[in-house]
Amino acid sequence: MTYKVPIDLGDRSYQIVIGSGILARAASYVALPSAAKALIVSNRTVAPCYGDSLRLALASRYSSIHEVLLPDGEQYKNWEHLQSIFDALLHNRCDRNTVLFALGGGVVGDMTGFAAASYMRGVPFVQVPTTLLSQVDSSVGGKTAINHPLGKNMIGAFYQPRLVVCDLSVLATLPPREFASGLAEVIKYGPIADPEFLRWLEDNMDRLIAQDPDALAHAVRRSCEIKAWVVGQDEKESGLRAILNFGHTFGHAIEAGMGYGVWLHGEGVGAGMVMAAELSHRLGLVDGAFVQRLRLLVERAGLPTKGPVLDSADNAGRYLELMRVDKKSEAGEIRFVVIDEPGRASVRPAPDDLVRDVIDACCA
Ligand code: NAD
Ligand code: GLY
Repeated sequence: MTYKVPIDLGDRSYQIVIGSGILARAASYVALPSAAKALIVSNRTVAPCYGDSLRLALASRYSSIHEVLLPDGEQYKNWEHLQSIFDALLHNRCDRNTVLFALGGGVVGDMTGFAAASYMRGVPFVQVPTTLLSQVDSSVGGKTAINHPLGKNMIGAFYQPRLVVCDLSVLATLPPREFASGLAEVIKYGPIADPEFLRWLEDNMDRLIAQDPDALAHAVRRSCEIKAWVVGQDEKESGLRAILNFGHTFGHAIEAGMGYGVWLHGEGVGAGMVMAAELSHRLGLVDGAFVQRLRLLVERAGLPTKGPVLDSADNAGRYLELMRVDKKSEAGEIRFVVIDEPGRASVRPAPDDLVRDVIDACCA
């Protein structure tokens, strides 16, 4: 069974195709513009598993298919390794019709998207996400970026792919820790947008962890539908889209504070969602039972529910310092995604003292 989720953005509209075994099918790519060249961007972990299948599926569409492999890891999501994609494009004399294919997780997808946005002022690109996290979140919606040592995803562009191909069968080779990391981004859609999906997740978390095909298809599809709905209303994050960052303000501080790659993105988001729920509770928005519900779900997904201690002398101070470089900050004031009620979120500042209390209560 193949599902198609449309992203409606006028002349930048595209489809997310979801199914099993679809990465290797030439038919999955028929909607793409014709071009002579393609460049597959992947990494040294994913390419040996799926590079040949993608290449074969594309063989009838492109007369030359080039490849660039990045080292594997969040710590390489930087300027130096972005440059290696430009090197490959220029060495292979790729013109502005060349189609870039991002084959990998969110790191490869974010870097390929940013390269596509900048090469010759913009070339088409396709997301072929191979992690759960990238299938339900990073491949959809056109956020592309690299990290700066002072802040995550600080250098980037909004640039939409032409197509997203989510092949559920590739998740079978994903390490369990990475799968759990992806579950954080699945879980977030419940509290911010869909209380029924939150209940479904509570009822089906065990099936999801076991990668039951029907449960997986439902979770990926519903996540993509919610993301498509949000992005369709606020592509450039002038308001609503920021709710997709539920748990990310605390989570990004954890990732940066620990050193990129030590905590996985979804692990930071898992603990970060519990912290943001606790903040929502202390702001009087949700009851303690909701925080406990979310904590339990995050725990059942195999994710941390407490943040790490980043600085034993002034832990809360260190979190606050790191959170001030968050992109949602305005004039140095941190803005948090809070849950107003299960299924509805908003973005607001919070007093430093209250945030300190939350950090003290939620770190171990
Ligand atoms: P990742 O890209 O590092 O992939 C995780 C690991 O899994 C890597 O080691 C990778 O090589 C490996 N892998 C990928 N697919 C595999 C497969 N099928 N089988 C075996 N191994 C596989 O991490 P991620 O969690 O996919 O993405 C995290 C990144 O996404 C972060 O940089 C984060 O900032 C970004 N992100 C971006 C957005 C956005 O909207 N653009 C949203 C969320 C996260
Ligand atoms: N992952 C958050 C967003 O796409 O806006």
